[in-house]
Amino acid sequence: MKQSQYISGVGLSLVFLSLALFSPSLAQSLQKEVSPNFSADTAYKKSCSSCHDHGVMGAPKPGDQRFSKDIDSLVKNAIKGIGNMPARGHASFLSDDEVRSIVEYMEHAQE
Ligand code: HEC
Repeated sequence: MKQSQYISGVGLSLVFLSLALFSPSLAQSLQKEVSPNFSADTAYKKSCSSCHDHGVMGAPKPGDQRFSKDIDSLVKNAIKGIGNMPARGHASFLSDDEVRSIVEYMEHAQE
C-alpha cells in the first residue's frame, strides 16, 4: 500500500517536472501565435517611421536612393546600427527576418 502511494507520488512529480520542462517551449509557440501576421507596414510605422518619415539626423526616407544599395548590407547595417541609426532602430524585439522585410518595404515604399 505504502509503495503504491510512493509510486503515484513519483508519477505526479514527473508530471510536474515535464510540465516545467515543456512550458518554456509552450510559451514560445504561444508567443508566435499572438502575432502570426507580421506586417512590415505596421512595424515600420511603429518602430522606424519616427526617424525615417522625417529624415531625422539624415535617416533616409522610404524610397530614397540610398535603398538602391544591395539589400544585404542595408539589412546588416539596420541590425547592427550605422552612424546615428541605432541597432534595430531600438526595436530589439524584431527578428533579423523582420528587419529585412521592413527594409524591403522601405526600399519599395513611395514617399
Ligand atoms: C532614432 C532614429 C531612427 C530610428 C528609430 C530608425 N532609424 Fe534607420 N536610420 C537612422 C539614421 C539617422 C540613418 C542614417 C545613418 C547614417 O548616417 O549612415 C538610418 C539609416 C538606416 C538604413 C540605411 C543603412 C545603410 O546601409 O545605408 C536602414 C536600412 C535603416 N535605417 C533601417 C531602419 C529600420 C528598419 C528601422 C526600424 C526597425 C529604423 N531604421 C529605425 C535613424 C533611425
